[in-house]
Amino acid sequence: MDRIRIRGGRPLVGTIHITGAKNAALPLMAASLLTDETLILKNVPRVADIVSLGDVLARHGVSLAEHGVDGDGGLCSRCLSLQAKSISTATVPYELVRKMRASILVLGPLLARCGEARVSLPGGCAIGNRPVDLHLKAFEQLGARIELVDGYITAAAPRGLHGAEIRFPTVSVGATENIMMAACLADGETVIANAAREPEVSDLARCLVAMGAKISGIDGDRLVISGVSRLRGTGHEVLPDRIETGTYMMAAGMTGGDVELVGGRLDLLSSVVEKLEEAGIKVENTQRGLRVWSNESATHGVDVMTQTYPGFPTDLQAQMMALMTTSRGASMITETIFENRFMHVPELCRMGANITVHGASALIRGVPELTGAQVMATDLRASVSLVIAGLAADGDTVINRVYHLDRGYESIEQKLANCGADIVRIND
Ligand code: EPZ
Repeated sequence: MDRIRIRGGRPLVGTIHITGAKNAALPLMAASLLTDETLILKNVPRVADIVSLGDVLARHGVSLAEHGVDGDGGLCSRCLSLQAKSISTATVPYELVRKMRASILVLGPLLARCGEARVSLPGGCAIGNRPVDLHLKAFEQLGARIELVDGYITAAAPRGLHGAEIRFPTVSVGATENIMMAACLADGETVIANAAREPEVSDLARCLVAMGAKISGIDGDRLVISGVSRLRGTGHEVLPDRIETGTYMMAAGMTGGDVELVGGRLDLLSSVVEKLEEAGIKVENTQRGLRVWSNESATHGVDVMTQTYPGFPTDLQAQMMALMTTSRGASMITETIFENRFMHVPELCRMGANITVHGASALIRGVPELTGAQVMATDLRASVSLVIAGLAADGDTVINRVYHLDRGYESIEQKLANCGADIVRIND
């Protein structure tokens, strides 16, 4: 099982290229099921979750090809073309869903395209029990019959789906995406109130419109979808990964570095930039993206509460906590989205951090320096918070179970080594 060893204490200086957002590419891939024509996605990140969902789609009969030329003949290093000419099966088995909980995103497209779907209930994961009740209730409102049998969701809409007025009691990124995709081919108009406003939801909506869907209210919390009879293929560029961008901004700040993030977009991270500047980190736009640097020996402690977009993203909570471990003063970080997203706390404490958890809040008292240690990755974002801590720690940090990292960060050790980090992957 691969491990990563980091010898800390070197400032990150140089350039990092930001890749397409994993959490945009996944629903975009699922959208290929909505048409029998070819969908070409550009700027797709090379991460394990993309490969896993590709395996799920291939099982449904989607032909996938990664090729160097995009739809209009331009050179494209990471284009993925997907075509669901016909659907061979509407079942997604447990062993695939267990590996890739975002497989739940095929439920809406399969229901809309074939009138049925059978998807294993995704289990919980390290950060929470991750229910899908909001998805299922909304599908029933669209006219599907939902049953839970032997751990599987069986959904049927033999006469097709019809429009409905849906109001989500809590904001859900995945439920918004799933329902929006299904509603594109439903009969009539669907309104989604209290819709998620994450940029990845908007990126999916824009791709669906390019495929012929009729969606208004994009970027807002009220989406109106008028069903159409069919969708066509299109070419779509996946938007840059704001979570990857924020992660490297915090790594640069933590090490007192100076890094240009090519392709990074500050407009997708306004709540994060506000907190980083409050902590004493400098950020500016550049021709190619953004520059982040720190002149101070230590950051200032700031308080953070995670919220749905455009608030501070839960997917950057662990990384922010790592940054705060060596800040001057104290900081309070409150996690409001998931019920168990502090798995990185005991690992950071093993590196000398001073963190106490009180319910949904963690109090971090800054310490002068962390010390390298053997630590355990538990989930995608917790593992990258340990990388950030290791980059600044005195001595060696070895991170075990780095398969968590590989799910969402493309070539992380290369990107960091190119900026001067002493980081290597140990295959043993
Ligand atoms: C998406 O997960 C992201 N994953 C997550 O990123 C991200 O943390 C999350 O949105 C919040 O921004 C992808 O896009 C693939 P939710 P999702 O539905 O859609 C509860 C990462 O690190 N809920 O917005 O599963 C849920 O338990 C991952 O890249 C219900 O109660 O998140 C959570 O508390 C981790 N019932 C809250 O809502 C439901 O039916 C938000 O979940 C659905 C969700």
